[in-house]
Amino acid sequence: MTYASYPALRMRRPRASAWSRAMHAENRLSPADFIWPLFVTEGQGVEEPISSLPGVSRWSVDRIVDRAREARDAGIPCLALFPNTQPERRSDDGAEALNPDNLMCRAIRAIKDAVPDIGILTDVALDPYTVHGQDGLLDEAGYVLNDATVDMLIGQSLNQAAAGADIIAPSDMMDGRIGAIREALEEEGHANVQIMAYSAKYASAFYGPFRDAVGSRGLLKGDKKSYQMDPANSEEALREVALDLEEGADSVMVKPGLPYLDIIARVKDAFAVPVFAYQVSGEYAMIEAAVAAGAGDRDALVLETLLAFKRAGCSGVLTYHALHAARLLNG
Ligand code: PBG
Repeated sequence: MTYASYPALRMRRPRASAWSRAMHAENRLSPADFIWPLFVTEGQGVEEPISSLPGVSRWSVDRIVDRAREARDAGIPCLALFPNTQPERRSDDGAEALNPDNLMCRAIRAIKDAVPDIGILTDVALDPYTVHGQDGLLDEAGYVLNDATVDMLIGQSLNQAAAGADIIAPSDMMDGRIGAIREALEEEGHANVQIMAYSAKYASAFYGPFRDAVGSRGLLKGDKKSYQMDPANSEEALREVALDLEEGADSVMVKPGLPYLDIIARVKDAFAVPVFAYQVSGEYAMIEAAVAAGAGDRDALVLETLLAFKRAGCSGVLTYHALHAARLLNG
C-alpha cells in the first residue's frame, strides 16, 4: 500500500465546516467598522429620495436625528454629514460654509444634543456651497486657487468644530491644508478634534450620485483633475499620505474604495497608521444596479465588498450600506 498519491496538505480540510471556517477567518466585520454618510436638507419632517442612489435619502435635521439613533443602536460609531445647501445660499466663494447657523452646523448640534455618544465626521471642501460646484475658489481662468482656498477651509473647519464636530475630514485635496487646519484647531481650543485626511482622493467617475445628493452635479463646470489624483498613480498616493501625516493627520483615507484596494494595502504597509476607505456613491449604485438586474444577492455582495476593505488593511469604511450591513451582522 502506498500513500504517495495523497496531497501533502489538504487546504480544504479547515474549510469543511462552518465552525472551522469561523475559527480560521483572518478578518471579521463588525458594526464598529462602519462610518455612515448622511445627507441633510432644509425643512421639517422631510425625506427626499435620491434617484441615482436608490435606498438613500436626504433628511431634514429633525429626521436625521432619528437616523443617528438607529446608527447608535446598531453599533455604528460614527456618522459622516453632507449638506444639500439651498441654491440661494450658494455663491462664488462658498461663504455659507463659514455661517455658524448653516445647515451642517444645525445638523451637528441637533445630533450632538440628542445622541451625544455617536461620533460626527464632517467633510471640509467648498463644493456644497459654491455656485460652480468646485471644491475651492477660482481664478479668472477657472483654476482652483490653492492658498486662498485653504484660508476658507480653515474657517469652515473651525465653524464645524465649534458646532461640535469630532473629526474634521478635508476632502478638497488642496496642498498644505492639513497642517494649516491642525494649527488653527490647536490655537482655537479644539486640540481634541481629530483630522481624517482624504489623502489619496482620486479624480473618479464614481462620484456622480453624490453630486446629485448635494446638488452640485448640474452646477459643476469642468472636472476636478487639477487637485484630485490621477487614477494612474500609486506612488503619488504614498507621498500624499506622508505629507498629511507629517502635517498632523490622525488617520488617512483612500477614496474611492474597491477600485483602489491596492492603494489601501500599500498605504497600510508603508505607514502602519489607521487607514479608512470611502466606498463611494457610484460603488453603492453599482451594487444596487447589479441587485436590481438579478445579478447577485444584495446581502452577500455588501458583506463581501466590506470584508475586502478589512483584508486590504482598513480600520473602517465609509459606506452607504452601513446601517443595512450593521443590522445583518447583528443578526
Ligand atoms: C466633495 C466630496 C465628494 C465626495 C465626498 N466629498 C465629491 C467630489 O469630490 O466631487 C464623493 C463621495 C461619494 O461619491 O460618495 N469634496
